[in-house]
Amino acid sequence: MNLSGIAAVITGGASGLGAATARHVAALGAKVALVDINAENCAEVAKEIGGMALSCDVTDAASTEKALADAKAKHGAARLVVNCAGIAPAAKIVGRNGPHDLEMFRKVIEVNLIGTFNVLRLAAADMMTLDPLADDERGVVINTASIAGYEGQIGQAAYASSKGGVIGLTLPAARELAKSGIRIVTIAPGLIETPMFNNLAPAAVEALIASTVFPKRLGKAEEYAKLVQHISENVLINGTTIRMDGSIRMS
Ligand SMILES: NC(=O)c1ccc[n+]([C@@H]2O[C@H](COP(=O)([O-])OP(=O)(O)OC[C@H]3O[C@@H](n4cnc5c(N)ncnc54)[C@H](O)[C@@H]3O)[C@@H](O)[C@H]2O)c1
Repeated sequence: MNLSGIAAVITGGASGLGAATARHVAALGAKVALVDINAENCAEVAKEIGGMALSCDVTDAASTEKALADAKAKHGAARLVVNCAGIAPAAKIVGRNGPHDLEMFRKVIEVNLIGTFNVLRLAAADMMTLDPLADDERGVVINTASIAGYEGQIGQAAYASSKGGVIGLTLPAARELAKSGIRIVTIAPGLIETPMFNNLAPAAVEALIASTVFPKRLGKAEEYAKLVQHISENVLINGTTIRMDGSIRMS
């Protein structure tokens, strides 16, 4: 699917991977709607790329329905949906101050997994109404997992569980939506330089870079955006999770 002229919805579009993707696909001619809980940053990125800013919490059914309806009213139903909204707090199962806060665990699952599913289900319902393109394709939903979904570290119980859920969602969603010409693909990034990564101590970052096979550096958000472009254009990629990680395997 060529991105020029199509409608795209990008969650988490106010920052990091989502913002880089928004800039990239807008430069390729897509009509971009950004969905983010951070209204201020969202409006800034939207202004920069001539896109639409939608302030919305992806865990909330009604507000996500409204955001997607507003995007559809302006741009038409989206053929590209990229789920980048996410959070990554770290905590041990039993830490210095006692057991893991259950509400924090719930919140991470809520944003990273249920938020992704919420957007996927609503966007797919709209995408089904579009005319098919070449190969009978109607569009693609790209989710963001993490290599922590495969090899989560100590402190990542909640985050790794949420990302494992996103990986598990990919194939059944692709199988079900195939009859409507909708592809579902997940990207599992390694260590990408974004505001989310800034929470880590410099020593931890150095250690992670050292354990990357090649290239020995952090990834760039633009590299994620280029992968989104490739997945969009390559109709054969479906129902799978692609690692983008310099072959790091976290210990
Ligand atoms: N940066 C990395 O190294 C890395 C690695 C693997 C996976 N990821 C994943 O990539 C995705 C994007 O991460 P990033 O690095 O760009 O982080 P980021 O913090 O820069 O951006 C995340 C965005 O999501 C938004 N958001 C958070 N909760 C939301 C909610 N409930 N509703 C709507 N928007 C919400 C935030 O406001 C923010 O703009 C996340 O799912 C993250 O887990 C990042």
